[in-house]
Amino acid sequence: MLVFFDMHDPAALRKHFLSDKVEHFTESVIREMTRQAMLYGAINLAQGFPDFPAPTEIKMAAQEAIAADVNQYAITWGAKNLRNAIARQMQEWQGIHVDPETQITVCCGSTEAMISTLLAICNAGDEVVIFEPYYENYGPDSVLSGAKPRFVKLHPPASTDGEWTFDEKELRAAFHNQTKAIILNTPNNPTGKVFSKPELELIRDLCIKFDVVAITDEIYEHILYDNTQHISIARLDGMAERTVTINGLSKSYSVTGWRVGWAVAPAPITGAIRKVHDFLTVGAPAPLQEAGAVALGLPASYYHELSERYRKRRDHLIPALGEAGFRCFRPRGAYYVMTDIRAFGYADDVTLTRHLVKEIGVAAVPGSSFYSNPRDGAQQVRFAFCKREETLDEAARRLKRLRSTP
Ligand SMILES: Cc1ncc(COP(=O)(O)O)c(C=O)c1O
Repeated sequence: MLVFFDMHDPAALRKHFLSDKVEHFTESVIREMTRQAMLYGAINLAQGFPDFPAPTEIKMAAQEAIAADVNQYAITWGAKNLRNAIARQMQEWQGIHVDPETQITVCCGSTEAMISTLLAICNAGDEVVIFEPYYENYGPDSVLSGAKPRFVKLHPPASTDGEWTFDEKELRAAFHNQTKAIILNTPNNPTGKVFSKPELELIRDLCIKFDVVAITDEIYEHILYDNTQHISIARLDGMAERTVTINGLSKSYSVTGWRVGWAVAPAPITGAIRKVHDFLTVGAPAPLQEAGAVALGLPASYYHELSERYRKRRDHLIPALGEAGFRCFRPRGAYYVMTDIRAFGYADDVTLTRHLVKEIGVAAVPGSSFYSNPRDGAQQVRFAFCKREETLDEAARRLKRLRSTP
């Protein structure tokens, strides 16, 4: 065997065997916190997946599809029934007309929809504007697609009941000739911010002025509180032709393990996304796409109940966190609470979350994992409340010990 470098030298091994790209990001901190929760027997308020059952009718639909032998590859860009259901839902909820034949790509989760979109539109050196704190996948997604992320801060509100905001000047300054896309996530993870119409209009104006694509991750579109309205940016004048709208089954139907999501875009962009998607994954799970079509046909009351149940969980967890010493920013959508941890006097978020998972038995996500510069999130921690009431009660009980343990 001919080997020209020392395989026991990690640096040499990296140089010869690994891509430079993977040097520029770490494994997901969120998913790592789930592994730690399992290791220490902690309650997992870290990763955003429900610990309660998915709706019976969609589980039945999945079982029926498998029994009916929908077990071979679906059309690479998505089963017709599901694409039709997606188009119908976008028309009904947002008044956006979509051609299911040319504008929809069903992917393995919205995660794949996002990376396929970025790979389809970005060239090396292109810049992508990202609001931060941001869902951690967007950083590695940009690196993998060769794009350079350019971050614009979302500032926490002065009062815990206020809105996270961005500075218009900072956003304007982020756009220039190299800007290819902006990634928007509304309702937002981790802040719970729901972007308002004037904010979206400002983003729209910049996208048009600089010929930029808006990639909007709307996976929490049905999880809204306090009469907040979700607006898809694709619906604003001038945006249909430059927007990729990403969504999926995971959060609206409590099936994060099914891995079904989609990208909706103008036909030429869809053509490019479909090519990337086909060679990355060939297709999303066929029987689960059929069940997805049933899910998207659930009545409006389903979504109202979904939001209402999450509102109760939010209003259950926030006081418990407050009592334990966290300053909570009240989310308007999605199912996370971002908190300020300064009152505890810990050196940083990682030290506190390590203590929480090992000694208190509650897993949360260090705020630093949502920022390009970890220092910016060093006094923040995120909790997920997509859990049963009993789970939240037990977490609250454990959190009472936080101040009394060293
Ligand atoms: C903002 C956001 N986008 C995408 C995802 C992943 O979605 P999917 O399961 O469809 O890949 C998550 C999961 O937590 C998320 O918070």
